[in-house]
Amino acid sequence: MVEVLISAEQIQKRVDELARKIMADYDHQPVTIVGVLTGSLLFLADLMRRLELPLRIALIQASSYRGTSTTAGELHVQMDLLPDLSGRHVLVLDDILDTGQTLAHLKVELEAMKPASLKFGVLLRKIGRQELHLEPDYIGFEIPDKFVIGYGLDYNDEYRNLPYIGVLQP
Ligand code: XMP
Repeated sequence: MVEVLISAEQIQKRVDELARKIMADYDHQPVTIVGVLTGSLLFLADLMRRLELPLRIALIQASSYRGTSTTAGELHVQMDLLPDLSGRHVLVLDDILDTGQTLAHLKVELEAMKPASLKFGVLLRKIGRQELHLEPDYIGFEIPDKFVIGYGLDYNDEYRNLPYIGVLQP
């Protein structure tokens, strides 16, 4: 059973607001959005179609090996899919900011590519979980420390297609 935490309507309304803010901030400048696979897919798709800006889209794969036999917290980032980002205004989109490991790691990797600017947007931020300081420029919703699914987020690769954010009930 899934308990709805954020409804599809609430998400769409918030994505509208974020799109307006992003358009105002970038003020017609070209932007390269870097979506972090796989969780950001729905957020990316809904947001990008609302952005009336010259837009490039790139994707990056970040997978952590927490809880497996490899070093705790080790993060593998697949950068091969990225175009040249030097001199570009880059906006990274991720589904959820939890400990901050993923975005902190990406920040180092992407800054090395010498973008003109680098910003971060997340649909969700878990309250009280951040271990590494990284303040996203755009945040959809602050949520309690619960494992959430839907709207791109998965449990064992399921539930990503739900149009809302939910909490799995045992
Ligand atoms: P960090 O800790 O690096 O985590 O900020 C970011 C990544 O961890 C995954 N994550 C979740 N995935 N439900 C999920 O489906 C959750 O509640 C959750 N919390 C963290 C996610 O891949 C995110 O990009």
